[in-house]
Amino acid sequence: MAMVCLTDFEEYAKEHLSKATWDYYAAGADECCTRDDNLLAYKRIRLRPRILRDVSVSDTRTTVQGTEISFPVGIAPTAFHCLAWHEGEMATARATEAVNTCYITSTYSTCSVEEIAAAAPNGYRWFQLYVYRDRKLSESIIHRVEALGYKALVLTVDVPYTGKRRNDIRNQFKLPPHLKVKNFDGVFQEAAGPAGEEYGVPANTLDPSISWKDVYWLQSLTRLPIIIKGILTKEDAELAVEHGVQGIIVSNHGGRQLDGGPATIDALSEIVDTVQGRIEVYLDGGVRTGSDVLKAVALGAKCVFIGRPAVWGLAYKGEEGLKEVLHILNDEFRLSMALSGCRNVAEINRNLIQFSKL
Ligand code: FNR
Repeated sequence: MAMVCLTDFEEYAKEHLSKATWDYYAAGADECCTRDDNLLAYKRIRLRPRILRDVSVSDTRTTVQGTEISFPVGIAPTAFHCLAWHEGEMATARATEAVNTCYITSTYSTCSVEEIAAAAPNGYRWFQLYVYRDRKLSESIIHRVEALGYKALVLTVDVPYTGKRRNDIRNQFKLPPHLKVKNFDGVFQEAAGPAGEEYGVPANTLDPSISWKDVYWLQSLTRLPIIIKGILTKEDAELAVEHGVQGIIVSNHGGRQLDGGPATIDALSEIVDTVQGRIEVYLDGGVRTGSDVLKAVALGAKCVFIGRPAVWGLAYKGEEGLKEVLHILNDEFRLSMALSGCRNVAEINRNLIQFSKL
């Protein structure tokens, strides 16, 4: 089967994964309005291409937190890669190392942070963190990933409670017995039922009382840059800057948390306007084509991250499948850049967007 675009991987994954696994990856909260709008919002945006600008040579490289990556697309943290491919997150780590981009490892990985680091020793990785009621648990994982060379902490702030994902409830989805949340082997005991994003650990491990003061607590524990994932308003973007974090990921968790929130590409502009370049702004949710990447970068995202498409790549062929997903996206991005007259990422800016249509 010739894979031409990311949707081809989606179809393959849907056909080959078990129904419960497919449903878990695909899930959105409630009526899935926000999940679906993440994609539809890109289709409402039109570009203003420039012509006759000698696009015979193009360069898609950029930097995030001062580190060069091959193009402005990284891997968003998603749980349980062993459900898609037997080598799980180790395959993800190898693919992202080979393509030279950033891999945000989920707390809920089915390989441990140590196994992931060993699988791709030169890979560029950030670690996604939740804050647990048991703060000692958060502290110990932070020290582990620091020692392993993870380069930033991504604090996910949109899961005080897990969103209501209907199919997961219907399927009573949980991790099969041969898989574990490896980072906390032995710490969390078996839990039954759809217990949360974690689905293999007790529902009450995450601390819904976390607030801005916990950002200071995190800063007291680590010197790693802190990036807040799950901001959707200018008010919270301003607070993030005031609290001294190094980055924001505009995210609605792929529409899996609050249904009715904005598409991330629609929320991006007010955040970029407020932040005014003081820290880097990234985005995830609904990125499926190279022109989606172009639009997000034009609207001020330093980099975007893909969630579900990475899992589809794994489901197709593990490391090779994810590499293929990233290559296709890179090729599409390069082509969209050239067709709109951009030779490098620095030339992509708001003038590319047809605001009169929005
Ligand atoms: C997620 N997401 C997520 N986020 C996070 O911070 N920690 C996590 O463990 C997970 N787990 C997870 C599992 C699955 C199956 C999905 C689909 C998503 C959210 C993820 O990081 C990201 O915000 C979205 O996936 C981006 O949307 P797209 O690219 O999937 O449309």
